[in-house]
Amino acid sequence: MTILVTGGAGFIGSNFIYYLLKEHPEDRVLCVDCLTYAGNLSTLKEALEKPNFRFFKTNICDREGVYEIFEAEKPDIVVNFAAESHVDRSIETPEIFLQTNILGTQVLMDACRKYGIQRYHQVSTDEVYGDLPLDRPDLFFTEKTPLHTSSPYSASKASADLLVGAYHRTYGLPVTISRCSNNYGPYHFPEKLIPLMIANALNDKPLPVYGTGENVRDWLYVEDHCRAIDLIIRKGTEGEVYNVGGHNEMKNLDIVKLICDALGKPQSLITFVTDRKGHDMRYAIDPTKIHNELGWLPETKFADGIQKTIKWYLDNKPWWETIISGEYVHYYEKMYGNR
Ligand code: NAD
Ligand code: TYD
Repeated sequence: MTILVTGGAGFIGSNFIYYLLKEHPEDRVLCVDCLTYAGNLSTLKEALEKPNFRFFKTNICDREGVYEIFEAEKPDIVVNFAAESHVDRSIETPEIFLQTNILGTQVLMDACRKYGIQRYHQVSTDEVYGDLPLDRPDLFFTEKTPLHTSSPYSASKASADLLVGAYHRTYGLPVTISRCSNNYGPYHFPEKLIPLMIANALNDKPLPVYGTGENVRDWLYVEDHCRAIDLIIRKGTEGEVYNVGGHNEMKNLDIVKLICDALGKPQSLITFVTDRKGHDMRYAIDPTKIHNELGWLPETKFADGIQKTIKWYLDNKPWWETIISGEYVHYYEKMYGNR
């Protein structure tokens, strides 16, 4: 089987490629990624040494380029991770989010229609459901929760989900969608909460917590997400949406404190900064459907996953130090300079 993974030079896509190469060495794995600021070819170094892996530097919005790859490689399954993924950037520059996340999805699905496919899988997010109030811990996102987005990022992801549903209903494209909660683990770009706090703490820099730090996210170790997607593409039902999450809700402030403690850094590094515009309060997934239908359960407890993640950042300093010494310096100054 040939599996085409888009966005495979980013955080979750690269973890998924390594998961496939380990768990399904009989499959061919193709990666399509245009290497935006968030894509890093060095992340795929070990994959590039495998004979059953190939990398294509192509933008998913480039219809001709995408069709050429489909024509030549005839993938059986497409898993679309490629996206602009950072909420703060979407607040600054929404347009690229609409281009990649919506129009790029359309190009990929058109290619699937033209060349034929066993499955098109859209990697979506729990952020399409909007947020939940802090004072209703009994509420969770199910697959039936209405879409109700807050940021240009989540609106673009929800739009893509609607388009995927439309291609299934109108053209009979064999699709599935997964909506996962916040991931953490190796190769997480250091603009996101957990890797940013680890990198700043290691450099004794202020730890910028938005607002009061009361916001809650439902954290899942990235390998558990990869296993969920692998199950969905092989055993999931066409046309269905699966929520993925491990009931691991944590306040931002508690995560940052935990990182300080694990690294032996003082909590006095924590600095409260101006809140994100339209900041979602709480995300919480009900994963009953994927558990009942596909037997999926998360395997990594947060206490273990966060230690493994911190160790990975300690052991792989060159990976993130290269990133934070380049263009990232300007990004950081723009986003945090006057906050
Ligand atoms: P990421 O930003 O780390 O990686 C995105 C990758 O996509 C990069 O390699 C980038 O170069 C590539 N890319 C961007 N635009 C492209 C384009 N036009 N053509 C080709 N490649 C392009 O993102 P991530 O955190 O790994 O997220 C991957 C997917 O998972 C996204 O669709 C995101 O919405 C979804 N998701 C992420 C999380 C999370 O916690 N990070 C949770 C749920 C869902
Ligand atoms: P993030 O990692 O950007 O993921 P998302 O917004 O997609 O959930 O942010 C996670 C939470 O951490 C979110 O509530 C915003 C907050 N946050 C901070 O407090 N400080 C920061 O510097 C960043 C990047 C995020």
